[in-house]
Amino acid sequence: MSMLAENESAARSLHQRKALLRAAVLAERDGLPLPVRKEHSRAIVATITSLPDFRGAERVLLTSSFGSEVETGDLIAQILAGGKTLLLPLINKESRMLELYEVADPESELARGTYGIAEPRPERCRRASNGEVEWVLVPGVVYADDGFRIGYGGGYYDRLLPLLPSATPRVSAAFRFQLRPEVPHGAHDQKIDIVVTESGVYRARSSRV
Ligand SMILES: Nc1ncnc2c1ncn2[C@@H]1O[C@H](COP(=O)(O)OP(=O)(O)OP(=O)(O)O)[C@@H](O)[C@H]1O
Ligand SMILES: [Mg+2]
Repeated sequence: MSMLAENESAARSLHQRKALLRAAVLAERDGLPLPVRKEHSRAIVATITSLPDFRGAERVLLTSSFGSEVETGDLIAQILAGGKTLLLPLINKESRMLELYEVADPESELARGTYGIAEPRPERCRRASNGEVEWVLVPGVVYADDGFRIGYGGGYYDRLLPLLPSATPRVSAAFRFQLRPEVPHGAHDQKIDIVVTESGVYRARSSRV
């Protein structure tokens, strides 16, 4: 086999291994009863708001939760009530990048966008720069002990994270069963620093920098 063909088949199998694990964990997450999901989400949000890095950050980048994800609605409300600046991403499908906007009033400034996610309405919000982000909540599906993660397969956060200040804490919110000893990863995959679950905070085993 040529070097190129070998690389291509390795990339294909990495893609397949991620897809299998992603589908299995998503199916399990979709099966969590709603009351359990809500109770765990409350515990996770309470823990996040107690983290010193979060408390010290002025501008925070979140995502509006969708599907069976840990619910971020209460966190968003607390961020705004506490006087922090809330940033949310808008998916740009053409450039395959996330564009950041400041949202002051979710009620009037969000609309259902790509994948049905509540996204900022660009005509109503200030466009923010990547350099403003002091703390980021990174969505995803599976997380490993060493900080690698599997997202939804678009590579959006793998492209965004290197553009944020390197000192910006990368935090994920997940149910405990979404953590695995390891996950398959490639050269583009970015690590996160901590995962907050209903049973506590897990710091990545190996440091990012
Ligand atoms: N920095 C990058 N530059 C170019 N391509 C990238 C980059 N990061 C990721 N990709 C590509 O994006 C595709 C999806 O990546 P991957 O399967 O890791 O997604 P993911 O981590 O699940 O998604 P996300 O980051 O949106 O949560 C892959 O084909 C990968 O090669
Ligand atoms: Mg990735």
